[in-house]
Amino acid sequence: MEFYVVDSYRELSDKAANIVAEEMFHNKNAVLGLATGSTPEGMYARLVKMYRESKLDFASIVTFNLDEYIGLCPEHPRSYHYYMNRNLFDHVNINAENINIPCCSDGWNSGEICREYDRKIINAGGIDLQLLGLGVNGHIGFNEPGQHLQAQTHLVNLAKETIEANSRFFDTPDEVPRQAITMGVGSIMHSAKILLMASGQNKAPAIRESFSGLVSTKTPASLLQLHRDLILLIDKEAASLLDCVR
Ligand code: F6R
Repeated sequence: MEFYVVDSYRELSDKAANIVAEEMFHNKNAVLGLATGSTPEGMYARLVKMYRESKLDFASIVTFNLDEYIGLCPEHPRSYHYYMNRNLFDHVNINAENINIPCCSDGWNSGEICREYDRKIINAGGIDLQLLGLGVNGHIGFNEPGQHLQAQTHLVNLAKETIEANSRFFDTPDEVPRQAITMGVGSIMHSAKILLMASGQNKAPAIRESFSGLVSTKTPASLLQLHRDLILLIDKEAASLLDCVR
């Protein structure tokens, strides 16, 4: 595992963008697994800047997003489709056909959508670099703590803490989605390389639990300790409860 503790969110965003850019330099056809949420926003802004400065080319890049809410259409300003367009896709030369985000329109068969999503990842040759944020409860994607973790893409009932954490993006509590489709831990763990980012004091307990040496389905991110090529990139607030940093 490569482990970086940086001083600020700005530094975290710069370093994360450099890691993604390096992957893209080495492989023009890289398959990137993308995360949403507030953590990667700064990184996406830097990737857009690099593209504008002609330092990056997205023409042959393929992307798979981790997750999408159930009940929000792609045009909804809080959907992850909308987030990705606003933060990255609208600003770079990515081919729309290479963008994959689980689509959860009403009336669709979620089981079929999930199986198709996994097939697409396999047909693309798997994920070269998977980006991850971290839930306050230790979730990755929307793989929530519980007795079991699911390997494949699946429909999930979001945990109470996740609904609470996500409520900051919505006007009223009733609007916060209760379900999502998420990539499973199998697809995440099969990625050739994983970059986990976390910023802020509120992520410190989840970072401590995830990297304590124990692996538990009660802290899904703890599974990442078993990955051969994990980069853990966190700021000093998120690292503040780790023994090796204190
Ligand atoms: C988002 C995702 C989630 C978030 C996590 C942290 O696609 O899969 O696991 O990465 O909830 O969210 P933020 O960054 O908003 O704290």
